[in-house]
Amino acid sequence: MLAASRSYIPPDVVKAQQLGDPTYMNSPTTASSAELPAELDLYADADRRALTFATGIGSRPVFPDVAARNGLARFNEPIPLRGKSAMETIELLDAAGSPAAVAFNDPRYYGYVVGATLPAAAAAERIALAWDQAASDSSAAPAPAAIEAVAARWCLEVLDLPRTAGVGFTTGASTSNLIAFATARRVLLERLGWNLDLRGLRNSPQLRVVVSDAHHVTVGKALRILGFGADDIVRAPVDEHGRIRPELLPPIDAQTLLVLQAGEVHTGESDPFTEILPLASDAGAWTHVDGAFGLWARASDNHRHLVAGIEAADSWTVDAHKWLNTPYDNGMVICRDVAALGRAMTSDADYTTQSAGAQRNLTLEFSRRARGIAVWAALRTLGRDGVADLVDSRIALAQRAAEGLTRAGFNVLNRVYLNQVLLDASTAENARRISTAVQDSGRAWLGPSTWRGKPAIRVSVTSWRTTERHIDELITLLAEIRDA
Ligand SMILES: Cc1ncc(COP(=O)(O)O)c(C=O)c1O
Repeated sequence: MLAASRSYIPPDVVKAQQLGDPTYMNSPTTASSAELPAELDLYADADRRALTFATGIGSRPVFPDVAARNGLARFNEPIPLRGKSAMETIELLDAAGSPAAVAFNDPRYYGYVVGATLPAAAAAERIALAWDQAASDSSAAPAPAAIEAVAARWCLEVLDLPRTAGVGFTTGASTSNLIAFATARRVLLERLGWNLDLRGLRNSPQLRVVVSDAHHVTVGKALRILGFGADDIVRAPVDEHGRIRPELLPPIDAQTLLVLQAGEVHTGESDPFTEILPLASDAGAWTHVDGAFGLWARASDNHRHLVAGIEAADSWTVDAHKWLNTPYDNGMVICRDVAALGRAMTSDADYTTQSAGAQRNLTLEFSRRARGIAVWAALRTLGRDGVADLVDSRIALAQRAAEGLTRAGFNVLNRVYLNQVLLDASTAENARRISTAVQDSGRAWLGPSTWRGKPAIRVSVTSWRTTERHIDELITLLAEIRDA
């Protein structure tokens, strides 16, 4: 038995000490931090390396060069029979990994729709990492539960969604959509007198899903995972901007899950919620909005009209690691009926408190990282005005990019109401050539795509770090590459 005054020494540390690993030769035998020199040295070394990486942002290539990528071969070693030194392991991670790490946190990163990391959110994440909480419920981990409750309340205020809605902090929009759809199905079946928990899906009433024809690929994935087949899914036709055409909306009834979108991933445009949501609600459908990045438009007085009427939905998806600029992986599922969300996700066990509002019961994970802490830190340091400004300023930069690129002779395919700029690349080969050349230059990152059959290049202005200077440099870079 351990003496009360002595802390537990993990078996790998004991083994390392027995093997003479210098990292652990001074490892702790008591709980006093003054007596943790080897462990603290290791953390200090890792912190120093991480700081060096972080301060290199802006000067390192946005995408790693070939030599750095080839250096990743150093990781390809057989699993050691005897554990290696922790110091040397961190040294390898930094020496081979850091040069090959993509600078997502760089102002010149325009890929996907992901943001950089706000310093407060990144710093909060470091503290939370040191806490190492299993943020399951408030009795298991009171600090994360208290902070995430505040973050949830603030999110609802900033996004101006029903204040009594439930907020689950998830790994991202993919998971949030999955959770929302699982909740929707359960409720729709319940209303039809079918208890899913008791009777399962076999012989259950047939549900139908209506999705935008321009839905995000992860919406299809979530539906597939839940067992919806292609025959259960109807695609609603969209206009040239990627918005559902209300006059062509397929029939909606009380057996329908309707999935709308705020922020199409190419054009940034949103479905006409004011026209569609009231009809769908009257019909008894469950309405969900995938607003992975577009929902943030709601935070700005100047751009709220782009997502007007969205508050009438039953559930919403929004990502923090996109426009709110928190670290990955960080998203929210928001459900008007918190009890319904809780019933779908409940995982109370004999050995836990029975806690309806616990994050364990609003998300997929039982043991989970307190992702909401970074959201809290981001919102607290930005304030409501700061979030609105982050939205407005990114849209202004995207519009600057569109105007500058048009002047430089590029054809911009979208209206640029939000933070997405879509460039006509003429051919798939050209889209690939230009985006590869941009990536290889190390001066920016953007990617190719296809929009309504047209090969295109996507520029997403989401990073809080991007300034007018970066946008102007991007225009110059793209013109140089085109002319080369
Ligand atoms: C509209 C939309 N939905 C879902 C996703 C998936 O988000 P995540 O990567 O956070 O799972 C994205 C990602 O870009 C998106 O734009």
